[in-house]
Amino acid sequence: MKVAVIGAGYVGLTTALSLAYVGHEVVGVDLDTDRVARLNRGELPFYEPHAKEMLALVRERLHFTARYEEAIPQAEVIFIAVGTPSLPDGTPDLSQVRSAAQAIGRHLGEGFTVVVNKSTVPVGSGNYVEALVRRAFREAHGGEPDGRLAVASNPEFLREGQALHDSLYPDRVVVGAEDRRAIEVLRELYEPILEQSFAPPPFLPRPERMGAVPFLTTDLVSAELIKYGANAFLALKISFINELARLAEKVGADIREVARGVGLDHRIGPRFLQAGLGWGGSCFPKDTAALLAMGREYGLSLPITEAAREVNFSQRNLIVDKLLAELKTLKGKTIILLGLAFKPHTDDLRESPALALAELLLERGAFVRAHDPVALPRARQEVTLPLEYAETPEEAFQGADAVVLATDWPEYRTWHWERLRGLLRTPLVVDGRNFLDGKALSAVGYRYVGVGIPALGILSKVEV
Ligand code: UGA
Repeated sequence: MKVAVIGAGYVGLTTALSLAYVGHEVVGVDLDTDRVARLNRGELPFYEPHAKEMLALVRERLHFTARYEEAIPQAEVIFIAVGTPSLPDGTPDLSQVRSAAQAIGRHLGEGFTVVVNKSTVPVGSGNYVEALVRRAFREAHGGEPDGRLAVASNPEFLREGQALHDSLYPDRVVVGAEDRRAIEVLRELYEPILEQSFAPPPFLPRPERMGAVPFLTTDLVSAELIKYGANAFLALKISFINELARLAEKVGADIREVARGVGLDHRIGPRFLQAGLGWGGSCFPKDTAALLAMGREYGLSLPITEAAREVNFSQRNLIVDKLLAELKTLKGKTIILLGLAFKPHTDDLRESPALALAELLLERGAFVRAHDPVALPRARQEVTLPLEYAETPEEAFQGADAVVLATDWPEYRTWHWERLRGLLRTPLVVDGRNFLDGKALSAVGYRYVGVGIPALGILSKVEV
C-alpha cells in the first residue's frame, strides 16, 4: 500500500521503517530539510539500535521529503506522528498536529484516504483532526471530501531503544475509528505484522513463541484513552515499587527480592518493577501530566496518577539524601554521574532523571562529572547545566568523591571497578538503578548503596 508518515521522530521513523520493511511504499515527511537530507543519505537523526541498518535495507521502498505535496495526494494511509510536547500546564501542544492536519486537507488525493493519529494526543483529538482536515479541504477546494476521508487512532506502544523490535513484534495493534472502512484498510496494512508473515531482519530475530498479534478495534476515543491508560499504569507500577522500596529500606528488606516475589503473580507480572531513580523520557512524564490536565478539564481529579508523579519526582531527592548521609556535605565534592540518557540504549535526554539529579547536586554545591556511552555529543549540545564531561572511566574517576549510577547501561557492569577504585578520593557507589553487583564491589573495597536494598561495605578514604 502507499503510505505517508508525517514526522520523522522516534515514532514516525520507526513506523516508516517497519511498514517499508514489511513491503509497503512509504514516504516520510518532515519539515526539517536538514533531517530529510540526512535521512535520504542513510543517516539517523538520533541513536536507536538497528535503525540505521533497517534504513539501508528498505531504501527502495522508503524515501523522505519536506514537501507535503510529494507524499499526501497518492497516499492511501497517512500517519500523523509529529511531536506533542507539554505546555507549562501539562496539556500537550497540538500545534504540529494542527499543521499536519491542515496540510493533509490541502493536498488530499482523489482516492479513499485514512488519516491515522499515531502521536499521543488528548482524548477527542481524532474528531479535532477530522474537523481540521475537512476545513482545510473546503478552503483549498470548496465542497466536502465526503467518502474520501476517514480518521483513525492507532496508538504506538514502542519503547525507545527497542523501537523496531516493538513495532515488528508488538503485543497488540489497537485501531479506533468510527468508519468500518478505515479499520479494514488498517487491518490490511498491518496484516504482515498481525500474521507475522514477514521474514525477520537478520539483526532482529522473531521472539520465541511469538504467535499472531491481537488486533483490537474500538471507537476513536477508546483507542486514544488506551494509550494513556497503558503509559499511566506502567508509570504507576514503577512508582509503586519505589514507594515499597522506601519501606523496604526502613524494615531491612531487599526490594529486588520483594519485586521478584510480587511479580511472579501472573496478575501482576514481573516487568516494570525495577526500583531506582524513577521514570523519565518523553512519554511517562508528559502523558501522566496530560491525563491530569484532561481530568481537570472535566472537573475530575486523578489521585493515583498524581501520586505516581509525586513519588517519581521525589526519588531523585532520595539519592541526594543517600549521598549526604555518606559524605556529610556535597559542597566542593565531585560526583560522577554514570549515564545521562533517560534509560539505556538511547541518547534521548528528555526528562532524564540523571539530569534532574545533576541539578539537585549542583544546587548543593557539588561538581558533577558525567559519563554516557552514547549521549555525550547530544548532552554537549542540549544540556545547559554546568556539567563536566568524561569520555573514559579513568577521566571520570580521577579525584572524585562518589559514583552515582543513574542509567543502567550494560557496559557499566563490565568496567574494571577494582582498578578504578584507586583513582577515587572516597570509594562510594550509589546505585540509582540497583544495577551493579554490590557484593563484588564491596569485596574490592567500595561502600555500595542502592535503592531499597541493604547497603554493603564500609566507607574508607583511599590512601594515595
Ligand atoms: C514508554 C512505554 O514503555 C511505551 O510502551 C510507550 O509506547 C512509550 O513510552 C511512548 O509513549 O511513546 P519509553 O518512554 O521509551 O516507553 O521507555 P520505558 O522503557 O517505558 O522506560 C521509561 C522510564 O522508566 C525510563 O526512565 C526507565 O529507566 C524507567 N523504568 C522502567 C524504571 O525506573 N523501572 C522499571 O522497572 C522500568
